[in-house]
Amino acid sequence: MNSWNASSPRSDASPGATSTPESGVDAFVRLTLSAIANDSFVRLVLSSPLSPAPGIHRIQARLIAIRGAPMLSITTREARRDSTRNLAVQETEAWLRSQLDSATGFSAALLGTLAKDWQLSTKPGAPPRLTSHRPSQTEAPTRHHDRAKHRAVDASGQDWLHALGLTDVHGKPTPKQADKYQQIQRYTEILGHHVVECGWTPGTQVTVVDMGCGRGALTFAAWHLLRRKLALEAQVIGIELRQELVMEAQQRATSLGLEGLRFQAGRIDQARFERIDGLIALHACDTATDDAVLRGINAGAQLIVVAPCCHQSVRPQLASPELLAPLLEHGLLEERFAEWLTDGLRALVLEWAGYRVRLTEFVASEHTPKNLLVTAVRVRTPFSDARLQARMRALLHHFGIHDTPWMHLLESPAGKEESP
Ligand SMILES: C[S@@+](CC[C@H](N)C(=O)[O-])C[C@H]1O[C@@H](n2cnc3c(N)ncnc32)[C@H](O)[C@@H]1O
Repeated sequence: MNSWNASSPRSDASPGATSTPESGVDAFVRLTLSAIANDSFVRLVLSSPLSPAPGIHRIQARLIAIRGAPMLSITTREARRDSTRNLAVQETEAWLRSQLDSATGFSAALLGTLAKDWQLSTKPGAPPRLTSHRPSQTEAPTRHHDRAKHRAVDASGQDWLHALGLTDVHGKPTPKQADKYQQIQRYTEILGHHVVECGWTPGTQVTVVDMGCGRGALTFAAWHLLRRKLALEAQVIGIELRQELVMEAQQRATSLGLEGLRFQAGRIDQARFERIDGLIALHACDTATDDAVLRGINAGAQLIVVAPCCHQSVRPQLASPELLAPLLEHGLLEERFAEWLTDGLRALVLEWAGYRVRLTEFVASEHTPKNLLVTAVRVRTPFSDARLQARMRALLHHFGIHDTPWMHLLESPAGKEESP
């Protein structure tokens, strides 16, 4: 590791050629601009914000080319959402300086280049310190705007995709099933990111259940992602009330020889499993999503990913507070508000159960208006934050909600499910 401080002279190859003293921030900005200019830029990561206000906690940037022009693609990470925007090269200097502001900016910055990695750290009362390290990457990353995505749902799944009628004999999505194809593609793409976050590496043994699996499109896709693409020792189980759908799906899985994939008839709240490491549900009707969330929590699942469907249970229970009454007189607003509240409470109960929760839209609304995805990764001791419990109680009380499948958790938090 080499250190660099305010009295060091400057150079472009490495700090150190002319006699002008340069601050650590100036050097970091210069090195960033130079890496962009000579195409040796690998990545920029800004973390540890100096002002602890809730909001952005990390920024990552990569270099992309749009119609031949270099741009920084900046991903901003907040507690519950990520957003991405592109920044023209001419704007980079001013933007980067504002992000490194010694009062309100980030205290840690990493610039990865093909020659070296540069680390800038700021501590209160001391000048920013710039150090260099061996490069963590020596091959230039792709500058394509849309990096090739690791799609689980691609031609390598043609056997089951065609058997389910999702693609034709040539592997093209069938018009009738195009929306479903899009849904499971996006869903599994997001699922794949979370599998990595859970630390499930090739060979890891996991049981993943798909609750209310219907014909099993997502179950097959999850199996394909976990077994074929990520090489996990995964058992994937689809649970479905309707016996005829279960039989059809099981026959398909058996005739294609898809080891580790099976379908089971039963109710979400009653089906028995030895373990649940991951739980998924795509449009499980109404409170079936709550049943699924509860099963995942009780089983201590590491990962829960659900896309809710119709929201019928909360609306009739809603006792609108007086202030909101004139707004919720409008049926449409009341319906939307009930949906919003239902999903908000789901997120909250998952948080209380020790999960880090994100709500995102997983497909564009033209594919399905039911496009909210709740992703939850278990990161804390469950039921340990009394503040969250109090907030949930207050919310339920405020809106008169007295009946949801997971409500009893507020009184007696669950333990791990027992094996049958
Ligand atoms: C809208 S479909 C979605 C099917 C599938 N997940 C998909 O996206 O293609 C909902 C499915 O959940 C099943 N379902 C609803 N409540 C259930 C429960 N309590 N237990 C098991 N399955 C249930 C229904 O029979 C139906 O097949």
